[in-house]
Formats: sequence, structure tokens, C-alpha cells
Amino acid sequence: MAQNNVLNADFFREYPRIDSGKGIYMYTEDGTEIIDGASGPVLVSLGHGIEEIADAMREQAVKLAFAHRDDCVTPVLEKSCATFTEASDGYLYKTFQVAGGSEANEIAIKLVRNYHLVRGTGSKYKILARWQSYHGSSMGVLALSGFTKRRSGYEPYLFEHGHIAPCYCYRCWFDQKPESCGLQCAQALENEILAQGPETVAAFIAEPISGMSLCAAEPHEGYFKRVREICDKYDIALIADEVMTGFGRTGRMFAYQHFGMDPDIVVTGKAVSGGYFPLAAVSVTEGFYKQLYDNKGDFTPGYSWSGNPLGAAVQLAAYGYLTRNKLVENCARMGTYLKKRITEIAERHPTFGDIRGRGLMVGIELVKDRDTKEPIDPSVKFSLQVNREALAQNMIIESSSGCNRGQSGDALVISPAFVITEGEVDKIVDRLDGVMTKVEAANGFHVFP
Ligand SMILES: Cc1ncc(COP(=O)(O)O)c(C=O)c1O
Repeated sequence: MAQNNVLNADFFREYPRIDSGKGIYMYTEDGTEIIDGASGPVLVSLGHGIEEIADAMREQAVKLAFAHRDDCVTPVLEKSCATFTEASDGYLYKTFQVAGGSEANEIAIKLVRNYHLVRGTGSKYKILARWQSYHGSSMGVLALSGFTKRRSGYEPYLFEHGHIAPCYCYRCWFDQKPESCGLQCAQALENEILAQGPETVAAFIAEPISGMSLCAAEPHEGYFKRVREICDKYDIALIADEVMTGFGRTGRMFAYQHFGMDPDIVVTGKAVSGGYFPLAAVSVTEGFYKQLYDNKGDFTPGYSWSGNPLGAAVQLAAYGYLTRNKLVENCARMGTYLKKRITEIAERHPTFGDIRGRGLMVGIELVKDRDTKEPIDPSVKFSLQVNREALAQNMIIESSSGCNRGQSGDALVISPAFVITEGEVDKIVDRLDGVMTKVEAANGFHVFP
């Protein structure tokens, strides 16, 4: 074999060599068609191979590939940031662009810190977060992440701010039923704030719908309203991490819009550029910005690539494609259909414990026993087996483990691009059906005909 200089994730695995893509499909060098049922890491929201986005990128690269935000501003960046305001119906006011979700959350931390410093509340610095959450892989935001497996090994580098229980009704940490729980998971935030000292707590960060840590777990209906009240009570900023959900994935432009969350800061990534350029963003409300402005603040932090015109041009083209083709609406419609079809095949598959999520972000938690919700022995790496069998059958789907307090709990996420058709949803679900039948049988489960 030819020498390969790529530092792969798994050193001992032979990866498919993907050469091109179109819509929800990718093609290997030898022409094999692979269904991209995951959109990469829930990222390629618009599907592969869109020429007008590639054209916009080329055009901007020729015109002006780079200009530094410390020295100037570009018209294309101004237009791009205006789309965040438009997409949120005016809710988001100022936007700061960076190259990835982890960077964006780091910027959100610095914005919050600045906010408190200029307002004379500088004793506030801790950013509370939840267990079984994910906010990125650089050390500052990995510290906020409660994704046990991804933290593992790096703990000595992680500054501990404080974590609370997730809002996870399928396996409620408080052993409650959603009808009568009294939102104890939201109350946990107030308890943590009081225990830490409200004068030290700057912000609370949460994914409105969980990403790969809890695989599309949705919050209890009243959760984020209560969280907002608690944040207001103690002068704490609320950060919605929408790196996975922002720009349409859940069937609305932003996932916070489903829940009356009213965040001060919204962090987006992935779908921001449709998957065509490394881009993410931090947006703040007018109220939040006004506090910085009125107190004569500034915001000097950033990265070399922050606010670059090339990313802005791609974002503008991607946003145009998204809105003109009404793909958020398609995402909602196809998401409902996908969930319905998965629910139908669930009858046959004894491991399907919970089917959840919104839009084209549908999670399936896989269990040993549907009635008791007993997790599958983590040592068999069941969800990974599903992921590998799916690939053997030419389909990529996301798999995860650790839903159950980081110790066990397998899950899948099906998250194709928003351009998907009903026929293609059928294709994904039919293939998943076959994959599950094979993996369940291989692990001693009785699959119903
Ligand atoms: C909710 C959430 N926040 C942050 C990140 C980190 O983004 P990136 O991988 O672009 O740094 C991710 C990535 O999956 C995510 O899902």
C-alpha cells in the first residue's frame, strides 16, 4: 500500500476513500455510492456538490480572500452578519465570526467575561454547564463539556466551573416523571448557583437540543423558561450552544425558538456555511450588546481567521440557498417523516428504546430491554457495531455512547442534509432496518419479522 501521511482517528482501520459528493450521497474513488445519513458530523446541511456556493467562494477568493478585522471591515462580512439578524427575526443584533464551534464557544466565554467586567460585576467568572453536554474540544470549552468520554484523559487541563444534571427525561437523574417532576433539573441550576455563590457565576451554557452527548434529547417543555427565570434572578447570561442545531437543523432556524429560551448569546457553527467552509459564529442580543456599549467596552479578542471575507461570502451563498429553496421547511417536513418511518421499523427492533429529536436530527437510544431501559453492555460497543455495519452497507450514520451518565447508553443520530426527499428518507430507513437486523441478531437479540 502507498504511504499514507494522514493521522487517522483509528490507526488500524481501513477507511473508505471518498472522492466526490452530490446531495445526500458520497462516492468513493472506484464509484461506490455511499449514503451520507449523518451529513458528516451533523454538518453538511445543504448536501454535497452545490455549484453556486463553490462559485461564490471562488469569486470572493479572487476579489479579496483575506482582510483582518483589527484593521478594517469588509462589505461582505457586514452583509453576512446581517443574515444572522434576519434569520432570527431581529432577535440577534451583533455577530462575530470564527472558524469553528469550539472557537466560537471560547469567544462566548470571553464576551461574557467582558460583559461582567465592564458592568462592575467582575467577581462573576464561572460558566455553569450540564453533564452529558458538548461544547467543543479546545481546553476551555472541553472544561464546560460534560461529555465524559471526550473529557477522559484531559481532565488535568480542565478548569472546573461546575456542572449540573442534564434535562433528560428518558433517564431522569431525579427519577421523576415529566408530568409531575416540578422541573427538578432546572432547579438544579439554582442550587448550583447558590452553592457556588451567585457573585461568582457569570453564565450558563446549554444546547437547546442535545447533540452527540445525549443524541437529540429534547428538553422538558418548561425547562428553558425556568432556566431563563433563574438566570435573570442572579444576573447570569444564558448561552445557547446551537453549533449543531442552528440554521435549520431542527426544523426552525434556531432551536431556541422552540422553547421560549430567550438566550443572551447564540453560538452557531456547522450549518452556518452549509458545510462549505470552516465557519462558526457568536451572536448577541441588542440588550447584551448595549451593556457592553453603554459601559464603553470593546472586544479585542479573536483569532487570525476571525471575520474573514471568504467565509462570509460562503455563508451568504449558503444562507441564500437555504432560504430560497425553503430548506428549513423541508427539514421540518422530512424530519417528521423520518421519525414516523423509524417509529414504524422500531416494532421489529427490540433494541430501539427511545426515538427523539426534531427536524433532521433524529436520535435513537438503543437498549438491552425496552421496558426496563437497561443499557446494553458498553464493552460490546453496540452503537459502534451499528455504525460499522451501516458503512459495510454503504451508509454513514452517527453513533455515540455514554448517554447513561457517561458510563453506558448507546445511541444513533440520523441527520441527513436538508435537501433530502421522501424517497431518500425511505432509502435510509430501509437500509437502517437491514443493518439493525444483522447487528441485533449477531448480538443475540430476537428480531421480529
Ligand atoms: C453543540 C456543539 N458545540 C460545539 C461543538 C464544537 O464544534 P467544532 O467541532 O466545530 O469545534 C460541537 C461539535 O460537534 C457541538 O455539537
